[in-house]
Amino acid sequence: MKLTVAYLVATFVALCVAAPAPSSYVVHEKRETQLDKWIKRDSKLNKDSIVPVSIGLTQRNLDNGHDFLMDVSHPDSPNFGKHWSMDKLKATFAPAPETIASVKSWLAENGIEDGRHKVSQSETWVKFDATVAEVEALLRTDYNIYTSKDSGEERLACEDYSVPAHLKQHIDFITPTIHFDAVVKITKKKRDLVTRSPRVRPSTQIKSGQVAAQSDLSFPLSTCDTYITPDCLRVLYNFPNGTLNKSSYGIVEYTPQAYLQDDLNLFYSTLTPYVPQGTAPIFDSIDGGVLQTTEEDFSLNGESDLDLEYAISLVYPQKVTLYQTGDLEVGASFNNFLDAIDGSYCTSGGGDVTVDDLDSTYPDPAAGGYKSKDCGIYKPAAVISTSYAYNEADLPAAYMVRQCNEYLKLGLLGTTILYSSGDYGVAGNSGQCCVNPGCEGGTYNDGGSGTFNPSFPGTCPYITSVGATQVKSGTAVTATQPEEACETVIYSGGGFSNVFPIPAYQLLAVEAYFLLHKPTYTSAQYNNSRVTRGFPDVSANGANYVIGINGQLGLVYGTSASSPTFGSIITLINEQRAVNGKGSVGFLNPVIYLNHGAFNDITSGGNQGCGTAGFTAVAGWDPLTGLGTPNYQKLLKIYLAI
Ligand SMILES: *[C@@H]1O[C@H](CO)[C@@H](O)[C@H](O)[C@H]1NC(C)=O
Ligand SMILES: *[C@@H]1O[C@H](CO)[C@@H](O)[C@H](O)[C@H]1NC(C)=O
Ligand SMILES: *[C@@H]1O[C@H](CO)[C@@H](O)[C@H](O)[C@H]1NC(C)=O
Repeated sequence: MKLTVAYLVATFVALCVAAPAPSSYVVHEKRETQLDKWIKRDSKLNKDSIVPVSIGLTQRNLDNGHDFLMDVSHPDSPNFGKHWSMDKLKATFAPAPETIASVKSWLAENGIEDGRHKVSQSETWVKFDATVAEVEALLRTDYNIYTSKDSGEERLACEDYSVPAHLKQHIDFITPTIHFDAVVKITKKKRDLVTRSPRVRPSTQIKSGQVAAQSDLSFPLSTCDTYITPDCLRVLYNFPNGTLNKSSYGIVEYTPQAYLQDDLNLFYSTLTPYVPQGTAPIFDSIDGGVLQTTEEDFSLNGESDLDLEYAISLVYPQKVTLYQTGDLEVGASFNNFLDAIDGSYCTSGGGDVTVDDLDSTYPDPAAGGYKSKDCGIYKPAAVISTSYAYNEADLPAAYMVRQCNEYLKLGLLGTTILYSSGDYGVAGNSGQCCVNPGCEGGTYNDGGSGTFNPSFPGTCPYITSVGATQVKSGTAVTATQPEEACETVIYSGGGFSNVFPIPAYQLLAVEAYFLLHKPTYTSAQYNNSRVTRGFPDVSANGANYVIGINGQLGLVYGTSASSPTFGSIITLINEQRAVNGKGSVGFLNPVIYLNHGAFNDITSGGNQGCGTAGFTAVAGWDPLTGLGTPNYQKLLKIYLAI
């Protein structure tokens, strides 16, 4: 009897192996982004065309990532400040051997044997070339050619794709699939499929105002309500001139934006004569990043000039590092930058795997393009400020989640990541608002009205998002007189994510906001579920900054100014911690949300957008100025005590 049962079981197992049930496939991703900009073409696709396929493997321990980060970032943790080494980071998050093995055996079952695919150095990607027909069979999908209504560009994409059910947990996402990844230049030369710029580029968060009259060469503290200078900021946020060179501070810029040394020099000589003429940032070029000077104007020099003039002057003699990212041909995205400072994230491992539609592809085959790909070549600075952003609605959720987890890892390494929160209030870049609630489908209204459009990475819970304030007109600057939300030229970006859940550190602050100051808008305008991340976290002045720009003094506005200023203050705190034998502060949010008292609460002003008045600044945290503007002396005291 027993023998018979064993025999039957064995037979059954053998049958299963021989004939896997087709029904075991499940849909992995389905397109929810807009189709109205893309027309599906009926013309036949050559099924023999070669497609470069990338499978993003799920990393191990990411579900513990939040707890790991809190362990080194929460002020009550005995391990506060005990940041991780790069080796520990890599060992902890690399995909499980089982993940790699099961994806490999699935590929082999489908005729894509070991010799044809490559696992990236970081072991987070499996990459191979296959014909359209092979990929269609592998992913149970149909590819089509789509034409962009705007540009006429052609892309290879599908509507959805499936993977075997047992592999779902091992795969983040696969490209090219639903994201209009691959440009169609159907030839057998696989490189030609991916030769181009990304569909969306990160946008700067800066606007220019009038040029300050050349007679206004002195800017006394009494004029800080119309001209912001480093001296004004030192009074407002109660911080001293720099004296040390013991930490590191990085500013990220994306080519073709570039600073001009003459503009920096003009700024120093006018406003910060203690910085010697010729003082330049440490130049870290990434993926062919260059300081182009063939074209000069505000749109190409304004962002870099602003960021570097203020960062360099506020932390001098601390040296500032410039991460100049992207070549002149295809530019770069945040992922290209992240690859360069974390080899374990690097999508390529020396190869050429990218999320093609969203990141730039290196090596860049264009004439004059950068012929390599930079992977883990620089150590991340202790504080990194970026004044560029996307709209959440521009990017697929899986892509944003993967990038957000990379910010989590940088926090584990002890880096403070700052992003400006946007300049269009509750609207997205250029004032874009969505057609559908929750920005579902990612379709924008033409008329500037519609659903609020949150910014990314502002909504990633593992960065610190910086909004903008302004000095109240006619008031003198002091360290105790609060400013108001910025309403001059720009409006502070803020709101609630449609993608990221609310992090524990923010629960009380957001709950208090809804309890005491519930906005009247409905779910038709924004995600009012109270279960998603609110932003920004903090703010700093973003109006009337005097800068040197294209040989003149100009005035600029934007959260672009707020982020490098806030980063300078954190850098000065890191230096004092260094003097006291302590490491960098790392991820800020768990500490600052427990210390509202270290911030000047901003309680007036709004962030209009999408045809509404936006949110209003109120007592406590709010979705336009966060916790408020920093008081350096108070923050320093807190950070020297932990
Ligand atoms: C700080 O720098 C300013 C110039 O911006 C200078 O006027 C001031 O004296 C300096 N303060 C100290 C304490 O060195
Ligand atoms: C700061 O330190 C860096 C690296 O140690 C050094 O290259 C630089 O010259 C220093 N800057 C100043 C102003 O002392
Ligand atoms: C808010 O976002 C969450 C997370 O994406 C989603 O589950 C929920 O349906 C959204 N709610 C509203 C009212 O948009």
